[in-house]
Amino acid sequence: MIAFFPQDLFSGAQRTLIYIIFVLIYKYMAKRIVVIGSGGFAKEVAFLIQEINTVSNEWNFLGFIDDQVGNSVGNNAILNNDNWLLNSNETIYAAIGIGSPKIKKSIADKFSVNKNIIFPNLRHPNATGDWSNIKMGKGNVICSSCCFTTDIDIGNFNAFNLCTTLGHDAIVGDYNVINPSTNLSGKVVIGDSVLIGTNSALLEDIKIHSNTIIGAGSTVVKSITEAGTYVGTPAKK
Ligand SMILES: CC(C)(COP(=O)(O)OP(=O)(O)OC[C@H]1O[C@@H](n2cnc3c(N)ncnc32)[C@H](O)[C@@H]1OP(=O)(O)O)[C@@H](O)C(=O)NCCC(=O)NCCS
Repeated sequence: MIAFFPQDLFSGAQRTLIYIIFVLIYKYMAKRIVVIGSGGFAKEVAFLIQEINTVSNEWNFLGFIDDQVGNSVGNNAILNNDNWLLNSNETIYAAIGIGSPKIKKSIADKFSVNKNIIFPNLRHPNATGDWSNIKMGKGNVICSSCCFTTDIDIGNFNAFNLCTTLGHDAIVGDYNVINPSTNLSGKVVIGDSVLIGTNSALLEDIKIHSNTIIGAGSTVVKSITEAGTYVGTPAKK
């Protein structure tokens, strides 16, 4: 950036000052965002925000929201607690960095009362999908290397962790957590608050009842019509 300013027009100090002004303007214009939570998935969501910024400079990441204010989490810190965010009287963006559907729902319910808090969809720049034919609500997190196809309907506050695939005509409800390398085939229908363990597969046309847990490495070969925990190949209760 400093090299951008012609040396004969500006002195070194002037160029540094102009650079700092540009950085401050950028920080001011970028949207302020926090990540709720400070555990492993929260750190990954912060990393996702950092990755999005390498392409679009969209976000000014302020830090995490949790009780241990001031503690560091990776390269960042816990900025403030729930009450601070709940009482925000300025627009602020928030992402939920929690890997449990149940807790995620309670957090979404709690913070949705303040209309100044906006839950954007965060999508890694390398995630592929026919985005103009994918409907999406708010608060969804789509991590690196996800691969969605077309005519897909996604609700709110879902997490699609690394390398998840989602086939044509799939319908996904709210608050679901899909762990890495899971393959959701065409026409699957996922209810709400479902946890799908890493490296699982759902065959085409499968429906999953809300509040279901599917263990890591499972293959679901027929629809699950009753909540519970299902594991194995084929997945059984
Ligand atoms: C299914 C799951 C939720 C069960 O957790 P849990 O209730 O704590 O169950 P336990 O670990 O006590 O195991 C209970 C039994 O189920 C078996 N089991 C657990 N997970 C299993 C799985 N994924 N596939 C097959 N069997 C499994 C255990 O071997 C144990 O069998 P046993 O009673 O014969 O010894 C959990 O094992 C799981 O797969 N979670 C997904 C985690 C994940 O995706 N993590 C990635 C984060 S990015």
